[in-house]
Amino acid sequence: IKRIAVLTSGGDCSGMNAAIRAVVRAALAEGLEVVGVQKGYHGLIDNHFQPLDTRSVSNMLQRGGTFLQSARCREMYEEPGQQLAAENLAALGVQGLVVIGGDGSLRGALALTRRGMPVIGIPASIDNDIPFTDMSLGVDTALNNIIYAVDCLKDTASSHDRAFVVETMGRNCGYLAVAAAIASGAEVTLLPEAPYDIAEVCSHLRRRFDEGRSNSIIMVAEGAGNGQKIAEQIKDAIGFETRVMILGHYQRGGSPSAFDRILAARFGVGAVEALLAGERGKMLGLAAGGLKLTPLEQVIEAGKRPIDQIMLSLSQVLGI
Ligand code: F6P
Repeated sequence: IKRIAVLTSGGDCSGMNAAIRAVVRAALAEGLEVVGVQKGYHGLIDNHFQPLDTRSVSNMLQRGGTFLQSARCREMYEEPGQQLAAENLAALGVQGLVVIGGDGSLRGALALTRRGMPVIGIPASIDNDIPFTDMSLGVDTALNNIIYAVDCLKDTASSHDRAFVVETMGRNCGYLAVAAAIASGAEVTLLPEAPYDIAEVCSHLRRRFDEGRSNSIIMVAEGAGNGQKIAEQIKDAIGFETRVMILGHYQRGGSPSAFDRILAARFGVGAVEALLAGERGKMLGLAAGGLKLTPLEQVIEAGKRPIDQIMLSLSQVLGI
């Protein structure tokens, strides 16, 4: 291998820049050339490439987002787009590709692998919904963002008798909400993976109120319901004064945590090593502290990573 390319795709997350940097530096150390692809798969289809050297990635480690920019690319779901992307890479003399992104991005990576391009995927999405990795890149930073926001909320919640509904991202995965609930001491956690009865939620809040605990945090994963509606239901059922905080894209930004920086370094260097070792069509994952490679077919077939039952029960036990 003489030349590799790297792209970030799908929703951005903190740690993507650190991962690009790690790919570039590891590749340069092995005497390879590196090409950056702009705006995810759009850049492959439209031939938007830029050479990356060691200076291109200096001062990037600590920056959130992705300097290569990212996008969700519809064309990459269709045969002609996949074919054109593979042809453009081949025309540029690229012999290996590192894809940093979430499940949609890994599907694109599989399509390119099937067209003969050696690809290694790095799981990156705040949702932590990708199977075969304990943590995806960006999750830890998003969690830190959430708990910072909830800590601030708790100051004001405890100064009034109020219930706060906090809506996290995560698409149809409840990981962010459940992990943030444990880390921030939320009283109630509503997840798409665990059916709930709003009447039971209200009686739980009522009981706490009767015990003199007059403020509560209700953590709602976006896939479990609409935070605004849930707040109204609580207000209507038990008359509590409620407020809503929809965290939205704030969760995706900011300087990556130490955990994400180190994970990015491991994934980035690991991806280059895997390509040089002749691996292709695989995703790197963090498993029991080590790195492991899983075929992309298996990752895609498995679908969404199941909710961690231990986390779920921790959030329930501690929310009494
Ligand atoms: O997949 C990451 C994510 O932030 C989800 O949690 C969220 O549902 C979605 O992306 C938001 O997408 P967009 O940035 O396109 O609004």
